[in-house]
Amino acid sequence: SEISNKDAKQQVANRMAERVKDGDVIGVGSGSTAFLAIQSIARKIKDQQLSVQAIPTSHEVALTCSILGIPTTSLASAKPDWAFDGADEVDPHHHLIKGRGGAMFHEKLVIASSSETYILVDESKFVDVLGSKHPVPLEVDPRAIHLVETRLEELPIKSVSLRMAQSKDGPVLTEAGNVILDVHFTTIAPDLESTLSKLPGMIESGLFQQYKVNILS
Ligand code: A5P
Repeated sequence: SEISNKDAKQQVANRMAERVKDGDVIGVGSGSTAFLAIQSIARKIKDQQLSVQAIPTSHEVALTCSILGIPTTSLASAKPDWAFDGADEVDPHHHLIKGRGGAMFHEKLVIASSSETYILVDESKFVDVLGSKHPVPLEVDPRAIHLVETRLEELPIKSVSLRMAQSKDGPVLTEAGNVILDVHFTTIAPDLESTLSKLPGMIESGLFQQYKVNILS
């Protein structure tokens, strides 16, 4: 149920906070589970007077850190000691689909820059086969929408849709001013992340097949 789901997210968020040590530079992912974790971490920092820096993966996370009094830095000036984030789907190989929030480009940069990553999920995120519940989001330069759509026809796809904004009219624009194509694949090959990355105009996909991550659930 929704309530036990929330309890599960809170528990995993609290366990993430236990990992925080004085002096850590932490990559902070987006989504509701990461949001609970950052709140839990903020309480620990205050209680134990720790000196910690966060590398946020979105404007929303940066603002949340500021409100909670956690100093922030960026990948331009620091390397994360470790990072945490959520996921939309996790398969038995610990490959992920992310990007429901549209921040997967920055999230992938932070995860790729961290020696260690923790993915915080509740049971609802585990799937036998990646792509069974969620589309793979692709951040694409707006000038490449038609090009990428045409190239995608050569891959095993069911549907492609341009993500539209909920409260504003028109397509969702990412923090970098790009658009998001949500793509349902019929099968996701183990090298699809790499295949997608070669398309011209592709900024980044929400497919994470190339990263060794620890799953906390
Ligand atoms: C953000 O772009 C996403 O990848 C999130 O990490 C993912 O959607 C998980 O969010 P929840 O923790 O809210 O389920």
